[in-house]
Amino acid sequence: MAKVLVVGGGGREHAIVHALSKSKKVEKIFAAPGNAGIANLAECLNIKDTEVEKIVSFAKDNAIDLVVVGPEASLALGIIDALRNAGIKAFGPTKAAAQIEASKNFAKDLMFKYNIPTARYEVFTDYKEAIDYVKVSPIPTVIKYDGLAAGKGVVVAMTLEEADNALKDMLLDDKFGHGKVVIEEYLEGPEFSFMCFVNGENVYPLEMAQDHKRAYDNDLGPNTGGMGAYSPLPFITQEDYEYALNEIMIPTAKAMVHDGYPFTGVLYGGLMKTKRGIKVIEFNARFGDPETEVVLPRLTSDIYDAFVAICDGKTPTLTWDDNYTIGIVLASKGYPGDYKKGYVIEGADKENIYHMGTKRNENGELVTNGGRVLFAVASGKTLEEANKKANELVDTIKCENLFHRTDIGAKAYRK
Ligand code: AMP
Ligand code: GLY
Repeated sequence: MAKVLVVGGGGREHAIVHALSKSKKVEKIFAAPGNAGIANLAECLNIKDTEVEKIVSFAKDNAIDLVVVGPEASLALGIIDALRNAGIKAFGPTKAAAQIEASKNFAKDLMFKYNIPTARYEVFTDYKEAIDYVKVSPIPTVIKYDGLAAGKGVVVAMTLEEADNALKDMLLDDKFGHGKVVIEEYLEGPEFSFMCFVNGENVYPLEMAQDHKRAYDNDLGPNTGGMGAYSPLPFITQEDYEYALNEIMIPTAKAMVHDGYPFTGVLYGGLMKTKRGIKVIEFNARFGDPETEVVLPRLTSDIYDAFVAICDGKTPTLTWDDNYTIGIVLASKGYPGDYKKGYVIEGADKENIYHMGTKRNENGELVTNGGRVLFAVASGKTLEEANKKANELVDTIKCENLFHRTDIGAKAYRK
């Protein structure tokens, strides 16, 4: 029987812990730091997800059989390298391989070199050169900070003025730190997330999901970290799936090996189905959040076995139920802008509600503790049924400071 440590403390990690808790091979789960929902299934440690040394020591001292890492920040710090150097089995990419997410420039250069379909781009460090380029390029245009910026480093500029402000923020005022920007051709079409387990050149697809980035119904309001997700995707044909796998995900895994950065873990393709074919918007080096919370509940095979198989270079068994799963984020009023924390929540300790940002206060009550707070998941034979059930589940949660979308997945079934 195995002891597993999950690094992270959001909805994604709650879903990973939940899936692990169903494995007959797993005896005990720890989480660093976990959250109030994860605490119902695992022992939460007083260690932050970026405290690499403490995590390695804990894993060594407690004979942990497997560490699964959720957040990009931990990966970019080289947590996998540190764990493996200490002889601990760890699921995730090395620091060098995680660059595919941490550096937009790295990812774009790799795609360009290996002819992996993506938007045209140029890289700039100088504000004057960047703005001169934008002035002769089509608008809208897309401006991306070259580094981790907590999902805020991308500006889809609909006017020259917006583009100019973004360039000033990133190159003159160093809003996210001193660095480079990638200026990209604007693409249009539905986006989708294709997560694959990868070990070197071997790619094992998970079921696809779609995130909903805008804050309000009908895709209105500001961009967020994601307000809901569903899986599987009716708008992806078998041909689309094969193209995404054979022309994007497998060539990318091979390119990483070829260039000396072999990838292990979840390679996440953020893809767009444009009129001119499927193209890469971004790669992530980890499970998506909130996509994981709708994909893992559909997994019917043992996730612990799959993680170990990937770490050991073997073929994992992955089987899925054929239901539609929909999840709705309950976010703090004000998110993605400023919001207050500490509001009491009732009705959220249920198996199909993942906690994204919660904690217990000094009275033991569950309270809000982040921008995105909860994720309510339901499944059904149709998307419409799953949406209805997910909304009903949301209505059982009581908290005065939360809001949510009601239309997750609706575009796919509303005519
Ligand atoms: P990223 O962090 O690279 O995923 O970008 C965040 C969001 O910006 C994406 O999910 C897209 O909605 C949008 N975006 C990024 N790149 C492009 C592009 N080339 N064309 C249109 N929209 C984009
Ligand atoms: N859902 C988008 C992400 O995980 O980056």
